[in-house]
Amino acid sequence: MAAAPAALGPLQKAGHEIRIEAGAGERAGFSDGAYAAKGAKIIGERRELFERAEALLHVRGPLASLPEGKEDLAFIRKGQILVGFEEPYAARDDLSALAATGASVFALELLPRTSRAQSMDALSSMAMIAGYKAALLAASHLPKVFPMMVTAGGTLAASKVLIIGAGVAGLSAIATCRRLGAVVSAYDLRAEVKEEIQSLGARFVDLGIGPPPTAGQGGYAAAQSEEYYKKQREALAKAVAEQEIVITTAAIPGRTSPLLVTADAVRGMAAGSVIVDLVAERGGNCELARVGETVHAGGVTILAPVNLPATAANHASLLFAKNAAALFLHLTKDGKAVFDLADDIVKGTLLARDGQVVHERILRGRAE
Ligand code: NAI
Repeated sequence: MAAAPAALGPLQKAGHEIRIEAGAGERAGFSDGAYAAKGAKIIGERRELFERAEALLHVRGPLASLPEGKEDLAFIRKGQILVGFEEPYAARDDLSALAATGASVFALELLPRTSRAQSMDALSSMAMIAGYKAALLAASHLPKVFPMMVTAGGTLAASKVLIIGAGVAGLSAIATCRRLGAVVSAYDLRAEVKEEIQSLGARFVDLGIGPPPTAGQGGYAAAQSEEYYKKQREALAKAVAEQEIVITTAAIPGRTSPLLVTADAVRGMAAGSVIVDLVAERGGNCELARVGETVHAGGVTILAPVNLPATAANHASLLFAKNAAALFLHLTKDGKAVFDLADDIVKGTLLARDGQVVHERILRGRAE
């Protein structure tokens, strides 16, 4: 849910009137009454909600749920401001339909990862929750406990976890596994995350294959050559064989996720081991992962959950609401929209305007 009762204050202080679709927050634990108590108006009729709004803040936009989303597209009108996850990569072929509404569309997926934009970074908020949940899922599927336990019947060794990809989701998974008492190691292409991994009490895994030939930018990795990925897969197979849990989060924005854990590597793991592939929806880091399914292969359980933030809907909504409101407020001054294209946050997130897709990187990607 894109609004939380506790996150309405900044929008109201800036003079905005808030309207909420009736029942929209219920499953996240926010009743209509809770919004109303904070001064929001509850609107039962969807058409009215769209018609009267100058700006629409939503989690996933209409392109996320085509063909049903078409109904919403028909309601969106010229001049409205849209802020949310607008699927600029996943719905690449349908962006013109969204642009054709004439709305000014700001996609949170395109937000630059800078300190100035931190308060708006909804992707990081969701990844943080997803990493935490991935650790809990792994723990609940492992036929062992995570922490070392000293009992009258003997001592149980702590379980061993490897995290592949130590960005936001990966670091959150590391922190959660450590809190649960596991022995954690982590690997990432970007050597600069070594200190962050170590500061969470995990070991940084050096695969001994040298630095990646292509450096990334702005806290993101770059795509690498197939030759380098092959080296990674071979070296990782050895690292994976020593683990009982592997959580994979390796991703590059707008690209298919690299294949890093092969079927052979899975075969090298002990029976009872668990793999959680967080990026299955984007191609998957593990060859055997199937989107949204649980696969059993040679005694190893491979999970590929989707939309994990929705399983912590209350907190996910609270964070999303704050992030979306912060971006929206950044786009307005004294209640009026001011799109300063010299501002990297505005330029970076503006996906479509005046009927056209205008985002340079997305346009380039579509032309490729
Ligand atoms: P991020 O960009 O912060 O982290 C990705 C990390 O992967 C980076 O540190 C990068 O250096 C590393 N990486 C990229 N290629 C690599 C390679 N070949 N070998 C090793 N490391 C490599 O991204 P963030 O925010 O942590 O999100 C991670 C993924 O989780 C995203 O793809 C996102 O879509 C997904 N996600 C999945 C959810 C679910 O419910 N399944 C929910 C939220 C996010």
